Amino acid sequence: EPEALEAAFQAKVDAEQRIEPKDWMPEKYRQTLIRQMSQHAHSEVVGMLPEGNWLTRAPSLKRKAILMAKIQDEGGHGLYLYSAAETLGISRDEMFEQLHSGKAKYSTIFNYPTLSWADIGAIGWLVDGAAIVNQIALCRCSYGPYARAMIRICKEESFHQRQGYEIMMTMAQGTKEQREMAQDALNRWWWPTLMMFGPHDRESAHSGQSMKWKIKRQSNDDLRQKFIDATVPQAEFLGLRIPDDKLKWNEERGHYDFGEIDWEEFRSVVNGNGLCNRERLQARVDAHDGGRWVREAALAHAAKKEARKVE
Ligand code: ACO
Repeated sequence: EPEALEAAFQAKVDAEQRIEPKDWMPEKYRQTLIRQMSQHAHSEVVGMLPEGNWLTRAPSLKRKAILMAKIQDEGGHGLYLYSAAETLGISRDEMFEQLHSGKAKYSTIFNYPTLSWADIGAIGWLVDGAAIVNQIALCRCSYGPYARAMIRICKEESFHQRQGYEIMMTMAQGTKEQREMAQDALNRWWWPTLMMFGPHDRESAHSGQSMKWKIKRQSNDDLRQKFIDATVPQAEFLGLRIPDDKLKWNEERGHYDFGEIDWEEFRSVVNGNGLCNRERLQARVDAHDGGRWVREAALAHAAKKEARKVE
């Protein structure tokens, strides 16, 4: 009786019990998680590309070592998330196929170019800062493997956020040119960062059901507001100006008011027409094709070892 199963499932979710891979779950719950978790995994992996652009040009050996470690963390996050998504019955190859064919999305934010070293600071501070706000909520996701992956990922993200803020701090306290670079990076990354939280709640196709299933714990608009409230004082401390004339503390609401996002730009980037969409996707396809011989060699090696065991 599917209705009884579904009611029992919802009761379990309502009682704050985690859903585990072998538990019964509605097919749509499974599909929603596969969609969100694979998009999340793809974002981590594609997210390595804009920062990778600055590895060879980091201003010191120390900065380079830190950036390298941070980018490797992002790759690791992608791997945890692919593994967690595999528990839902989809294979990694299928997920890659969906990314490479353009069927699966990844976050719009990674389709913007990194034009100066200050962008590396802005990404850590703003992009990873926004990712944390979103992912703290996901630590309480009803699906066990996703929630547990998020706990570790959030710990690493907070290190990333701090390293970004420290770069911004160094530049904001530097020469006039460095301050200008920091301000320019903030100008370019601010609005795209706000788009990471997704469309307004009233436009969000999946929010209603995802909130009911406790996949999402807080709405897109609530998380965006939370991020803005936390970040404005950080910008003030840096002596930088957030590029929004409407940004203003609202005493009554106890939140900052802010201007409207350019949703036309958001839609355009989601639909593949951002500044770097083609380049990013091509880089992933090339990496996958270029790594084929490694995968084949690993499989051949494993088969040989297995054959030796049998004898
Ligand atoms: N970039 C690309 N696509 C987006 C974005 C975005 N910033 N925001 C929303 N979308 C897409 C959704 O994936 C959905 O498309 P789909 O139906 O084809 O999958 C559509 O827009 C409608 O949006 P929502 O109904 O609001 O979708 P959802 O409930 O999935 O909420 C959100 C979107 C908030 C991004 C959610 O999926 C989420 O929390 N994901 C996990 C976090 C994540 O992916 N972070 C990646 C960036 S952080 C990092 O990698 C460091």
